[in-house]
Amino acid sequence: MLRRAGAAALALTVPYWLPRTVVALRVKVFARINGPEGVVVPNAEVDPERFTELYEHPAASGRSKGAALSDLFWYWLSPGPEVHQEHLEPGPRYDAVARTTTAILAGTSAELSAAAARRTAEVLDELVPGEAALVRLRDLMMPVWAEFFYELVFREPCPAYARGLIVANAEDVINSLKNTRLRHMRRRERLTRYLLRRLAAGDVPHALPPELASARDRAHYLQGTFFNTAVVQMSEAMAHLLLVLAAEPGIQRRLAEHPYDDRDLSNVMNETLRLYPLFGIAHRITDADIDLGGGAHYPAGTVLCFDYPAYHATGYTDPGTFDPDRWNHLSAKHAHHIPFGVAGNRPCPAWRLAPLIMRAATREVLARFTLHTGVSHTRSIPHRAPALLVRRDRPLPPYRIAAVRLLLRVRDRWEDVGRSVLQLVLGTWMVLDARRQRPTERWFAAHDTQGCPLTGTSTARETPGGDGRCPYPH
Ligand code: HEM
Repeated sequence: MLRRAGAAALALTVPYWLPRTVVALRVKVFARINGPEGVVVPNAEVDPERFTELYEHPAASGRSKGAALSDLFWYWLSPGPEVHQEHLEPGPRYDAVARTTTAILAGTSAELSAAAARRTAEVLDELVPGEAALVRLRDLMMPVWAEFFYELVFREPCPAYARGLIVANAEDVINSLKNTRLRHMRRRERLTRYLLRRLAAGDVPHALPPELASARDRAHYLQGTFFNTAVVQMSEAMAHLLLVLAAEPGIQRRLAEHPYDDRDLSNVMNETLRLYPLFGIAHRITDADIDLGGGAHYPAGTVLCFDYPAYHATGYTDPGTFDPDRWNHLSAKHAHHIPFGVAGNRPCPAWRLAPLIMRAATREVLARFTLHTGVSHTRSIPHRAPALLVRRDRPLPPYRIAAVRLLLRVRDRWEDVGRSVLQLVLGTWMVLDARRQRPTERWFAAHDTQGCPLTGTSTARETPGGDGRCPYPH
């Protein structure tokens, strides 16, 4: 009898202990497969006060070459990881690509906000036409940003066909990164082929850098930066922000009543990105010795792993509490707050644009709907932020909203059980596959850091001219 009661209690409490156990196991398995690599900062030698000093050190400049960790990122961000701005080694090619990204993202605040508001309004009216809907906030935001970034790249409205390709590509990347699905390269390659056709037709009205040697490199650059990173990051950031608002009705009401109180909304965004930074870890490979004193000595070739959540949890009172009002007394510039990276070492090129368009999109959501949820909220947000949207002018009775919140909570708990096991299995498979393929190591065995084939390698012999000369001017 007692044994049966124990078994029943164990089964019923599965959602409370199994996901956590599986996540811990996943971390151990990944560490085992990847082997010991990297110095995680902050640590005993580099305390949080010296975190940015190390991050911004001129020798912390390598991006891909020499770190097994890079294989994983290249694997998940394929195709074309070798021309993704995030992965390029410093040098003229990186400079040219970074300049191009900045030029494509340029625009006045008014223009960019208006474009984001238009795209959000249209997508919401199309996808949530009724008085209420159960949605996954990340999925709802994907088409918004697909259309927005298509417009920035092509300077024309986004056709439905292209939106479908972009969303399929971005979802595939982020789902595989979260280990909830395997990679589907065919889905991603459909977008590459589309971009190649548009480039060949002369439809891209921006000058793309000659350092991107082939049409395929140029297509991969557009795909990686604008139709993968931009769409994924904006959708994730909005999913976090809207989920926070769904869980905090008081803050949501305040923002809906004062939609143009930018200070209040900025405080909420700062606090959301502090608690749920989109990057868990950003890594750099040192190209010379770094000695900061106090035992912080890192020889050339060290892989430094900058831990965002750990850094964001230092220097605050009650760091685990969600408290947007703390930003009334803090300056984001001087706090331990780097949601867009550090100014001195390759910060996010969208650090100005992203908050602007997030504010515009949030206003559109709050103008139409009240948001409700009962689900958990973690930095990796693998559940894609389930929530109930209810038309503001057609409210539901409170008991129905309470019932839906309860349903969401219970469903979330049980989904978490299956998902955590799935993530363990798929994650392990992909980490092993990335280790087997070693995309970064293989690339740098045949190319220099500027993408030029190394003389004497088969890649060099296969390039036009066949003599190993770099096919683009540099
Ligand atoms: C709220 C949204 C976003 C957040 C929080 C965010 C965050 C970040 C962070 C922390 C980094 C630096 C990582 C490092 O030090 O290695 C970064 C880099 C980058 N981000 Fe974003 N990002 C966002 C949106 C975007 C968008 C919209 C784009 C569009 C193009 C973008 C493109 C990039 C690129 C290309 C890099 C690499 C920069 C380089 O190495 O030069 N991000 N992002």
